[in-house]
Amino acid sequence: MFIWAHRGASSIAPENTIKAFEQAIQAQADGIELDVQVVENIPVVLHDAWLQQTTNGIGHVTQVAFGYLQSLDAGDGQSVPTLRDVLMHINGRCKINIELKAADCEALILADIEYALEHSAVTADDILVSSFNHRMLARFAKLAPAIRLGALTANLPLSLAEFATELGAWSVHCARDFIDQDFVQDAHQRGLKVFVYTINHAEDMEKMHQLGVDGIFTDYPTRARQLFSVVEP
Ligand code: G3P
Ligand code: MG
Repeated sequence: MFIWAHRGASSIAPENTIKAFEQAIQAQADGIELDVQVVENIPVVLHDAWLQQTTNGIGHVTQVAFGYLQSLDAGDGQSVPTLRDVLMHINGRCKINIELKAADCEALILADIEYALEHSAVTADDILVSSFNHRMLARFAKLAPAIRLGALTANLPLSLAEFATELGAWSVHCARDFIDQDFVQDAHQRGLKVFVYTINHAEDMEKMHQLGVDGIFTDYPTRARQLFSVVEP
């Protein structure tokens, strides 16, 4: 079972901060998931477009200055990191799922990925770019065919995982409440990995294991690692 630390180890550290990502690595998560917004053309790691949701600031990402964002506290004295900071900080120590939240951000994201590929130990195989915005994912794929795509869905489509095949995705990321055996089987027949969000309870972790999914997003990577031991290569 692949363990993605959802927004980092967000049960024990402020979500989407360097501290949460460090805790995820300590918990032996296989990868971190993070959300990206854009402020003044700079990709930043933040779930909500409204700053008051996760910081001591106020305002919308489209209306604030990057300098202001940098001055904010995202919890425990942590700042809102840039995507580039996080990629460089992780430096190849785990996989990174970059979830695109901002509109039309694909070229900016790719520039940061390319910077990290050139200047750190991050490799292309470490990166998985996902979004609920499939049109943006399709544009990203045209810009960067070598980077893996994760197709997110918050529902159970009539044609099961067909949309992910259409996108040329590497994986499909499904909501816990809608995943079922038919979907998992269809996705696997298409050669797709299946990752499910957000799985925090041990019972649900076991249930996902029974369903045969490839991985989970969890705020509790330590709990998941206790259940699913590291498989030695
Ligand atoms: O990427 C999986 C999950 O993070 C999607 O939902 O709202 O937590 O970003 P959300
Ligand atoms: Mg997310």
